[in-house]
Amino acid sequence: MPRSNALFISLEGIDGSGKSTQARRLADWLTAQGRDAVLTREPGGAPGAEEIRHLLVQGDPERWSPETEILLFTAARRDHLERTIRPALEAGRDVVTDRFADSTRVYQGATRGDLRALVDTIHSAAIATEPDLTLILDMDPEIALTRGLARNSGEDRFEDFGLPFQQKLRAGFQALAAEQPHRCHLIDADTTPDAITQAIIARVTRHLR
Ligand SMILES: Nc1ncnc2c1ncn2[C@@H]1O[C@H](COP(=O)(O)OP(=O)(O)OP(=O)(O)O)[C@@H](O)[C@H]1O
Ligand SMILES: [Mg+2]
Repeated sequence: MPRSNALFISLEGIDGSGKSTQARRLADWLTAQGRDAVLTREPGGAPGAEEIRHLLVQGDPERWSPETEILLFTAARRDHLERTIRPALEAGRDVVTDRFADSTRVYQGATRGDLRALVDTIHSAAIATEPDLTLILDMDPEIALTRGLARNSGEDRFEDFGLPFQQKLRAGFQALAAEQPHRCHLIDADTTPDAITQAIIARVTRHLR
């Protein structure tokens, strides 16, 4: 079988850092290059996974224990992988996902650092897949939080944990980029949408094959 040139790309970063905006722009750019790109998101990205999303992003911040939350995220991710990501990659389509497993690693690390080992164990057992390229939108949480809450989306369960939590998340994403430098790249997101898109395109261009 010929090797597929399809790319699996995730966008990560704190709440309000511009992931959804940039994921859409990246998928549009890939399509404009004559590639076939699927834009998707987590939690969600498949019908069953979207149902699980509602359980995760709405309601009281303390609604789930950290352990339960990891299992819900992983159940949604497995469905996303089976129904959306793998079929697309196998058909030679690029996949751009707005969040993937790094969000679970970093969010759980920020709430309960001792659960990172559990996250990794469950990930290897149930998901065992990493993106080819992960772009981490890095910026000041204070500015990002204003952007996110301004939207009043009704999906603010994580934003509602507040600024110190977002600062921990930023540090977590930065640590991940240092840990996995071949896959994860920090992108300065404290600038205009166009400048961020250009930085992303420059990085993705190096991975196109
Ligand atoms: N570079 C930017 N400068 C200013 N505002 C921006 C920029 N990028 C996105 N925004 C605006 O900030 C808000 C958050 O952006 P976006 O939804 O893309 O972030 P996100 O990372 O997906 O957020 P969330 O984590 O809450 O899903 C939106 O209202 C968007 O229009
Ligand atoms: Mg978003």
